Amino acid sequence: MNGPIVNLNDHARAAQAALGEAAWAYFSGGAADGLTLQRNARAWQAWGLAPRVLRDLRGGHTRCRLLGREWPMPLLVAPMALQRWAHADGEAGMALAAAAQGCGMVLSHQTSTPLQDLAALVAAEADRGPLWLQLYWMPDRGALRALIAQAEAAAYEALVLTVDAPVNGVRDGERRHGLPLPEGVRAVHWQAPASHRQGLCAGLAECAPTWADVQWLIAQTRLPVLLKGITHPLDAREALALGAAGVVVSNHGGRVLDTVPATAELLPRVAEAVRAQRADALVLVDGGIRRGTDLFKALALGADAALIGRPALYGLAHAGARGVAHVLRLLRDEFEATLALTGCPRVDDIHTDCLWPLEPPLQAASPA
Ligand SMILES: Cc1cc2nc3c(=O)[nH]c(=O)nc-3n(C[C@H](O)[C@H](O)[C@H](O)COP(=O)(O)O)c2cc1C
Repeated sequence: MNGPIVNLNDHARAAQAALGEAAWAYFSGGAADGLTLQRNARAWQAWGLAPRVLRDLRGGHTRCRLLGREWPMPLLVAPMALQRWAHADGEAGMALAAAAQGCGMVLSHQTSTPLQDLAALVAAEADRGPLWLQLYWMPDRGALRALIAQAEAAAYEALVLTVDAPVNGVRDGERRHGLPLPEGVRAVHWQAPASHRQGLCAGLAECAPTWADVQWLIAQTRLPVLLKGITHPLDAREALALGAAGVVVSNHGGRVLDTVPATAELLPRVAEAVRAQRADALVLVDGGIRRGTDLFKALALGADAALIGRPALYGLAHAGARGVAHVLRLLRDEFEATLALTGCPRVDDIHTDCLWPLEPPLQAASPA
């Protein structure tokens, strides 16, 4: 890559140059025609910022208070599988970088690093963001219960049950290249249920999770449980009624079901439904967040915090933990600049009236 890396698109290009074809297809890919993947990033551009000038910015900061503790930044790294395939630093590098930048991390159920090793690295860091574990449903309830017990013992602060992918998405890149995992890289806590290999009519219907399974899972743990992959307000309401601590508005970064709308489009409706039901429930969002202004817009549209996926992996892929730290630092700096330039010195000052709806949307000169 020529020239300095100054934004998240530069990190994507550097990652593509560093990764082999199959790994790039896996980490960057979207489902089917990639329409949801592209729209996720573009949809943030349908909102313009409405800066207010000459406000008193003294005492400004990025801290927020969520799930009973203070976070340095309303930003987490999204759960992503098999990070040691992207770089030898893997999930450990990701977690160290997130902690150093005051961001949270959600470890994937399909982690290639044991959850205990990761917690041992960062749990004692004073200024880190939250450390959460993401789970997929496994029909073997005993195995799921054992994993939850391990997470509780290792100081994970919440569980995130991903509910939008009972089967793998249809991804052309993976069909072409397969998943040629390097020697020694595997999902260490994951037992693939039959549903991931079989279609709806060949076994899935028997083992895909339902709301009753969510209720069971919530009853197994003292940790707060969030549901990730919620895009419909009625599903958000159902989740809260069963005792979920919150929802992550997500379409899996456009990797599972193509032509689902962008999360920026769905977030306001889900957030409204959640707030109407329970003021203390969390609303998180991910998908296409590539700039500090996108993070700001996510909060203005009703999220308490946001997650980034691919950009963090791209930083990891070409420069290990250092690359992730740079990605998060860029977002952090851009977010702080946005706070100052919109006249919102604190996260709590961000509201919908900080945005103008735009028609047609802004268009980046060189889209990601
Ligand atoms: C390579 C890759 C692997 C992923 N693995 C998981 C996973 O194991 N569990 C999960 O809940 N989501 C997974 N996701 C989805 C992310 O958590 C997140 O929803 C998405 O990447 C956000 O969109 P963004 O990449 O545009 O930021 C994965 C995403 C990518 C790119």
